[in-house]
Amino acid sequence: MSEGLPKEHRMPQPGEMPDRPHLLQRIRYSIFPGTLRREKVREGYRRLFNSLILHFRPRNVQEETLRWSLTWGLGGMAVVLVFLLLGTGLLLKFVYQPFPDKAYESILHLQNEVLFGRLFRNIHHWSANALIIVAFLHLLRVFFTGAFHAPRQFNWVIGSGLFLLVLFSNFTGYLLPWDQLAFWAITICTGMLEYMPGIGLWLQALIQGGPEVGPGTLSNFYAIHTAILPVSLLILMPFHFWRIRKVGGLVIPRPPGQGSGGHGQTVPAIPNLLLREIVVALVFIAFMLVFSMLFNAPLGSKANPGLSPNPTKAPWYFMGIQEMLLHFHPIFALFVIPALMLVALFALPYVDYQVNTAGIWFASMKGRQMTFIAALAALIGTPLAIVADEYLIEVAARLPAIPTWITNGLLPFAVLLAALAVFYIFMQRKYAATNTEAVQMVFVLFLVAFVMLTVTGIWFRGTGMKLGWPWAGGA
Ligand code: HEM
Ligand code: HEM
Repeated sequence: MSEGLPKEHRMPQPGEMPDRPHLLQRIRYSIFPGTLRREKVREGYRRLFNSLILHFRPRNVQEETLRWSLTWGLGGMAVVLVFLLLGTGLLLKFVYQPFPDKAYESILHLQNEVLFGRLFRNIHHWSANALIIVAFLHLLRVFFTGAFHAPRQFNWVIGSGLFLLVLFSNFTGYLLPWDQLAFWAITICTGMLEYMPGIGLWLQALIQGGPEVGPGTLSNFYAIHTAILPVSLLILMPFHFWRIRKVGGLVIPRPPGQGSGGHGQTVPAIPNLLLREIVVALVFIAFMLVFSMLFNAPLGSKANPGLSPNPTKAPWYFMGIQEMLLHFHPIFALFVIPALMLVALFALPYVDYQVNTAGIWFASMKGRQMTFIAALAALIGTPLAIVADEYLIEVAARLPAIPTWITNGLLPFAVLLAALAVFYIFMQRKYAATNTEAVQMVFVLFLVAFVMLTVTGIWFRGTGMKLGWPWAGGA
């Protein structure tokens, strides 16, 4: 009513700048010019916010893909962890000094004298370790829902690339505190490179920045850790999300036996997807924060290149490989088997599958049974093989005149392949499986075996890497 009157004769409108605004109002109006009505302003911002979000997120999503039991929120949690790491990592850089005579002291200074320094280090440490587990669980969910089948093959490849970046980020970060644990774990790992045929020694010198782990290694690792790997992650992640949008979203869950033809209902991503993402992110951040307040990141005594701890162990995520080293010739443990595992990971989506099982947990009912049996076989078989190798094949290895690359290399490898072949043929006869189910079975077999090797290496190896019970004082 009073809008047409001169300003001094009418009531100020909502959102309109008053005649004598105080400081805060003047600042606010300088950012959001206040001649619009408040509702209009709000509507404008809502639209702006939505269109900004919609640059990253799809406008509509399939309703079934919102189900918690499809993704378990794992991809989202991995994103949250990467951002926590980027944020805390940047803050750590203000205090950390990448020189052997200063690195350890800078961490002590960070922990004891810098406000919230210990907390930020804890968040960085626990987020880094959690990221390996979360990204790995996400890989498993993608694998077991068949989300690597066409048209998502390449996103599996990008995801595998992301996983390697996460592992390398952890590995390069591991050295930075420059304590005994860090120094000797990295020494063990870079030492393993010697066995790589052809380029091993050259690669080792390149990574170490010299003949042994020292100042060159620390500055190499620091540069790779705080620049090259974060930038690579930031490039690869949007590519990963873009691929999801290009194929029209996530796999649509369906029960075993149901075809993939039907398309369900779509719902707007705002608020349906966005709200779920925000809830997962907030709950997860709260969890990481509380965890980091309760548990401190470990820090041993300062690195002493002259005194190695016993046992000297690699970082926990490489313990499976270190454990293999105890059973196979180094060429097999450090090169042939890991290389085959990597090739299999990247090649997995490009096998010529008989059936596309995208969206079906464990491919089929038969697939579920086979997965269960394979997991059980590896769960029982691996510890048995480790114990047998420790006490029986060791004897054979001591026999004269047979080179160790046969007794420790070719022989166990051949035994392993033979056992695998027998298991495979038995299962094929019993289940007459499709190659989709068979690949899943072999994947589970190797996966569980590798997890068992890792568990053995972490908890069941004591002084001199001898096998023993962790709670018996021997490990
Ligand atoms: C830093 C590591 C990673 C991040 C931040 C990440 C993030 C995400 C997110 C947010 C999604 C969508 C939501 C979800 O599925 O939970 C997704 C989907 C996907 N991810 Fe990852 N991911 C990572 C690692 C991996 C790995 C290791 C693989 C497999 C080797 C992988 C393969 C895929 C595939 C194929 C999809 C599409 C799934 C579908 O269509 O249902 N990602 N990822
Ligand atoms: C995926 C990303 C990342 C992972 C997995 C990761 C992992 C790690 C790990 C495991 C440590 C050793 C922590 C400890 O036990 O003390 C570490 C330390 C460190 N990281 Fe990262 N980091 C990541 C990103 C970053 C970024 C982006 C920066 C900086 C731009 C950064 C800077 C640092 C610094 C300065 C340290 C030494 C301080 C310390 O060890 O507490 N990190 N990182």
